[in-house]
Amino acid sequence: MATRNLLIQTFAGAVLIVFSTGLAFAASPSTEKNGKLQFMENCAICHQDDAIGVPGMAPSLTNQELLNTSSDRFLMGTIRDGRDETGMAPFAHLGRQNVRDIVDYLRSFEKGANRSAEIDDQPDAHGDPRLGELWYDNICSTCHGVSGDGYMAGGTGTAIGLPGFLDKVSDGFIRETIKKGRSNTRMLPFQGPTSLADLSDREIDDIIVYLRELGERQVEEED
Ligand code: HEC
Ligand code: HEC
Repeated sequence: MATRNLLIQTFAGAVLIVFSTGLAFAASPSTEKNGKLQFMENCAICHQDDAIGVPGMAPSLTNQELLNTSSDRFLMGTIRDGRDETGMAPFAHLGRQNVRDIVDYLRSFEKGANRSAEIDDQPDAHGDPRLGELWYDNICSTCHGVSGDGYMAGGTGTAIGLPGFLDKVSDGFIRETIKKGRSNTRMLPFQGPTSLADLSDREIDDIIVYLRELGERQVEEED
């Protein structure tokens, strides 16, 4: 009797081992696949099947500048919390693993090395917000809205003056995006000979300081 029980137990144990190893093997190559599935179900309706976005509706998630500049922390946090007062809803209900898998899927489009650690480590911007405001109103507001509320103001740029964006990014991230732009979108580079307006490092920092002020103003208005 005892031997039989032992046999049954051993057999059950073996089945369990085979079963769980099978699962473990299946899990890692399938994260990207699950990410794609989750993306198609939850995100493609706005960001499109190939994640390139639609001007005025949702930004591109596959342009190299966004992928190279952003950390997983930024992408996961943005997906989890969404962006208040924009079309980007929070997706915390998907659970951490699904959000992780979506980010892995988006990363499969990334070509060059990720530079987010170095970019997030850059010093904070120092400058004159009044000069930043002038630049912002002249160059950026047509697309991003006068108060930085993005699509809500009728432009094609995202809500870069709202806390949903500002609270999640470093000054380095904003600086890099203004300098390099985002390929295959309407966000052009604003530094260098081929840029729309060849802004100096100082002028770019003035704009960043102004954006931070805009964000704080929005928070105060809510209180
Ligand atoms: C109803 C439309 C909609 C859906 C659905 C949606 N998004 Fe968005 N998403 C947006 C909009 C609009 C923005 C830009 C918000 C702004 O103006 O800042 C955005 C922004 C983002 C950003 C920031 C990109 C950047 O350039 O900084 C990420 C990342 C993102 N979405 C990922 C996702 C993922 C992943 C899903 C699915 C889980 C998803 N979104 C579902 C509309 C949507
Ligand atoms: C011709 C329109 C246009 C102008 C002008 C423009 N932008 Fe943009 N900007 C965009 C678009 C569009 C995006 C998002 C890319 C996409 O849709 O995939 C963007 C994205 C950004 C982002 C990243 C936001 C995010 O959600 O991740 C920052 C920061 C930014 N712009 C700053 C600026 C600043 C500062 C200026 C002025 C110096 C400026 N932009 C001028 C269209 C514009």
